[in-house]
Amino acid sequence: MLEQKDVVIIGAGAAGLFCAAQAGQLGLEVLVLDNGKKPGRKILMSGGGRCNFTNMYTDHGAYLSDNPHFCKSALARYTQWDFIDLVSRHGIDYHEKTLGQLFCDNSAQDIIDLLLKECEQGGVELRMRSEVLSVEPNERGFLLQLPAGDIQAKSLVIASGGLSMPGLGATPFGYKIAQQFGIKVLPTRAGLVPFTLHKPLLEMLNVLSGIATPITVTANNGTSFKESLLFTHRGLSGPAILQISSYWQAGETIAINLFPELDIDGFLNSERLEHPNQSLKNSLARHLPKRLVECLQTLNIVSDVTLKQLSIPQQQRLIEELQNWQIQPNGTEGYRTAEVTLGGIDTKALSSKTMESNQVPGLYFIGEVVDVTGWLGGYNFQWAWSSAWACAQAL
Ligand code: FDA
Repeated sequence: MLEQKDVVIIGAGAAGLFCAAQAGQLGLEVLVLDNGKKPGRKILMSGGGRCNFTNMYTDHGAYLSDNPHFCKSALARYTQWDFIDLVSRHGIDYHEKTLGQLFCDNSAQDIIDLLLKECEQGGVELRMRSEVLSVEPNERGFLLQLPAGDIQAKSLVIASGGLSMPGLGATPFGYKIAQQFGIKVLPTRAGLVPFTLHKPLLEMLNVLSGIATPITVTANNGTSFKESLLFTHRGLSGPAILQISSYWQAGETIAINLFPELDIDGFLNSERLEHPNQSLKNSLARHLPKRLVECLQTLNIVSDVTLKQLSIPQQQRLIEELQNWQIQPNGTEGYRTAEVTLGGIDTKALSSKTMESNQVPGLYFIGEVVDVTGWLGGYNFQWAWSSAWACAQAL
């Protein structure tokens, strides 16, 4: 006998599990299929093991998409406060780390447990290590072919995520299904990802590996982030770099302001008055890591002079270089370490209210597979929850 379900969801990640729980609790018979051994593998890895599950300042402005308006409806209908309320109802303790980012006090496993309990309440069936061989539309919805036997679904929800971290089970399944049904897929690239550097600069900055400093970083399109920069043995990382990587295109430069807070002109002037014989290097080291100042000397950005030897025009040039340090990354570390995938299912092909395909009734796309990508800081999980909720109401 052919197995029949109201809804089959492909992908037991954040979006798939949340959608399944909601749809199940609305009375639908839901089956979730996933190619992995365990559900929610990315959730478990997220936020350094504590899952940054949402952001208190969630707003459509924190998302990249070819259509920046697309995410508005879902984010407004299932908000960060709705998810925070759910977390509280499950008795999960959490805290704000910084910039509205909410993390579990204990472990990311708490969020997986929450999702699994919600699924259980909705009578959802979860089938792991399940590979879908083919999907064919028919008059009753979709026929799915699996090695263990065929399944007939009235509605099909694709929640298979993006391409980031293939080690955690990422596959292009969602994009392939879209292409099969003639749904446009926008070009994808790695986002929230460290930069690699060209060899000469990397060799000079290598000694800084492990050092972090607060910066403002700006992309060519004018987008800026004031967060921390981390030098690594491969290049540049840290929250500021991950954020700007989503706005960076190959070949472009980024501009780094090493003094995002300080009036450096005023600081150098008062230093010159108080300690005219002090080296410029030692003065700068009061606000920057010493090894970074030494590197800036090697790069001929900082000269080997005392403060009284530093002329006013030299000081102005120095300030320009320290506040507008132009670096051209060689590339990014790619999907291997990227937290997200930019691009994906073209939002023009979907309803922003339900996530259903405009041209294939009954076929839905939610979560990261869609061309909606959030900033670092809990925004991507919030998109998973909001898009999943919007979809579940329509199934
Ligand atoms: P997700 O990738 O979570 O789930 C997709 C599921 O589909 C997976 O279980 C996969 O196994 C399954 N699948 C794939 N192909 C399949 C196939 N062919 N057949 C069957 N199943 C298939 N975001 C955030 O807001 N806060 C944070 O703290 C972090 N931290 C973080 C850390 C790391 C290391 C990464 C890689 C990512 C983050 N993110 C994050 C991003 C966040 O994890 C991501 O945006 C969401 O998990 C996306 O949820 P989805 O459910 O759409 O995809």
